[in-house]
Amino acid sequence: MSAARIFDLSGKVALVTGASSGLGARFAEVLAENGAAVVLVARRAERLDALQAAIEQAGGKAIAVEADVRDRAAMGRAFDAAEKNFGTVTILVNNAGVAHAGRAVELSEEEWRRILSTNLDAVFFCAQEAARRMLAAKTGGAIVNIASVLGLGVDKGVIAYATAKAGVIQMTKALALELAFKGIRVNAIAPGWIVTEMNRDFLSGERGAKLKREIPIGRFGEARDLDGPLLLLASDAGRYVTGATIVADGGQVVALRA
Ligand SMILES: NC(=O)c1ccc[n+]([C@@H]2O[C@H](COP(=O)([O-])OP(=O)(O)OC[C@H]3O[C@@H](n4cnc5c(N)ncnc54)[C@H](OP(=O)(O)O)[C@@H]3O)[C@@H](O)[C@H]2O)c1
Repeated sequence: MSAARIFDLSGKVALVTGASSGLGARFAEVLAENGAAVVLVARRAERLDALQAAIEQAGGKAIAVEADVRDRAAMGRAFDAAEKNFGTVTILVNNAGVAHAGRAVELSEEEWRRILSTNLDAVFFCAQEAARRMLAAKTGGAIVNIASVLGLGVDKGVIAYATAKAGVIQMTKALALELAFKGIRVNAIAPGWIVTEMNRDFLSGERGAKLKREIPIGRFGEARDLDGPLLLLASDAGRYVTGATIVADGGQVVALRA
């Protein structure tokens, strides 16, 4: 089978959370470029509208739905909008996330809960909503959770984020096991440093130069470096892959640190 055909997403409906910037915006574009109708979800509606216009301009199909991923009723409405416009969501990209910097002993309860509710709780409830609807419609589907290399190893100052992302990797396996026999695959991508709004300032200057030296490939990632892993997990090309986490980090986690 040709590469174009095996990765083709025509007839699929993809919902991407956190599509208003960074990786989510790129994920939505690449899914649309490969034939999926895309539902763009985030809180900043004007950005979603601009991305919808760009996707349509390029010949793709998209709708924008303003929603906070922590609000289960709002997410239910996003899935309803998807069904009304395109049909059952058969690809969920669980991408919305927030970062923080703070040592464990200084972290407030509010900050801990902000990170965990967005980066772990909402990932589960969005996956659950998507799976329930795929099961009801008997469509099967693919869920792709965006974890992080900080779900595999840790650094100082990221305890809430690293805990949530490790949870996402374990959740991916547990969901995969329960849903495999119904034709729903669940996988994760664990990116390393990919330059986006979340970290552009953090990755600049001397600190950025030092961090870059720890990456065997010798550069930070850019959003389109994840096109391949996403398309593999979302399409028939990955049809026998479930419960996996693809690490896309320029070799960072296999390198020994001084
Ligand atoms: N960039 C990296 O180096 C890197 C590395 C590993 C993992 N990741 C993960 O990749 C994902 C995307 O990160 P990014 O780098 O693209 O960051 P980003 O540019 O800051 O984008 C984060 C996205 O999440 C959305 N979001 C945050 N809270 C939300 C909420 N409560 N409800 C709905 N949407 C929400 C934001 O939209 P609104 O603000 O408009 O709602 C935005 O679209 C995150 O899960 C992140 O942890 C990133």
